[in-house]
Amino acid sequence: MSARIQPLDTDIVEAVRLLRSGSVVALPSETVYGLAGDAFQPEALVKIFEAKGRPLSDPLIVHVPEFDWLERIVRFESDKQRNLVGDLAQAFWPGPLTLLLPKREELPDLVTAGSQLVAVRVTSHPVFREVLRRLNSPLAAPSANRFGSISPTTASDVHLELGEFIPLIVDGGPCRHGVESTIVLLEGERLEVLRPGPISIDQLKEFGHVSLAGENVNRPGNLPGHYAPKKELQIIDSDITPDSNAALLAFQYPREGFQSVEVLSPTGDLLEAAVNFYGALRRLDRSDASRIFAEPVPEVGIGVAIMDRLGRASYGSKYGSGHHKS
Ligand code: TXA
Ligand code: MG
Repeated sequence: MSARIQPLDTDIVEAVRLLRSGSVVALPSETVYGLAGDAFQPEALVKIFEAKGRPLSDPLIVHVPEFDWLERIVRFESDKQRNLVGDLAQAFWPGPLTLLLPKREELPDLVTAGSQLVAVRVTSHPVFREVLRRLNSPLAAPSANRFGSISPTTASDVHLELGEFIPLIVDGGPCRHGVESTIVLLEGERLEVLRPGPISIDQLKEFGHVSLAGENVNRPGNLPGHYAPKKELQIIDSDITPDSNAALLAFQYPREGFQSVEVLSPTGDLLEAAVNFYGALRRLDRSDASRIFAEPVPEVGIGVAIMDRLGRASYGSKYGSGHHKS
């Protein structure tokens, strides 16, 4: 016997009913939980911004269940662009890759905050895809946290963040990747990674010239400001002196002398570390410690994404730019 981790069919039916009526619903994705609303209903989009406390200037990712839906929201610039997207789709969709593509005029400007580019991805989560298919409309969905807070990777995390603001959270179990999708801007043959994620830079290399956007690029998604835990977070060297007032986010080995410690992966596995990352950060943020120290993780594969999030969460540290709230 095993516990139920998929929601009942009635949860899916209820989610579709709410979404059709212009409401918002939290749905599980393979990366983090999303707060979904019908991308073609402006009043639903407004509810997303309100529930998150997010400024209207910060655009939303649109989710579709399959490549064939893309032209409901996207107008390709050229056959060449369509072919490149087709190749990327073949390799990575459904999955944690978001592409910035020219939007169709019909898509409400609220989705893209006035930009001519829309961020779109095909999620692999069976519950999210089933809701999309039954609703038969693309869903805008940012991470289901209050603006600037930690992304939720379980239904109960969503409840802590948004429980009082939304009518339904569909439980699809813990998220498989644990960090948000890789966001890529296509410029001809060039792929610019605006946000590193589960699809690594190396994986993208066979599709064109790949670069990682600089920290200070002035784009949506790179807003100045503080982000993530409420406590101050600092990335530290391995030879740190223990501090009984501080919490430690450790990569592989626990250490003595801290108020509380979370280990991301006892085996040093970066995929496991990513899955545990936001939950561990959330627990340390709730601990009695006065601040959080975080060990760096190796910057390879998904480790680049973890270090990106740590950097954004740590204001004024070695890596910290204090950028990015979403
Ligand atoms: O894995 C994910 O991508 C999750 C799941 C739910 O799909 N979603 C997610 O959404 O992380 P969000 O809104 O928390 O982060 C999306 C980031 C934001 O920083 C936003 O500014 C940026 O992508 N973004 C969205 N649309 C954009 C656009 N049209 N142009 C530039 N940046 C955009
Ligand atoms: Mg977010």
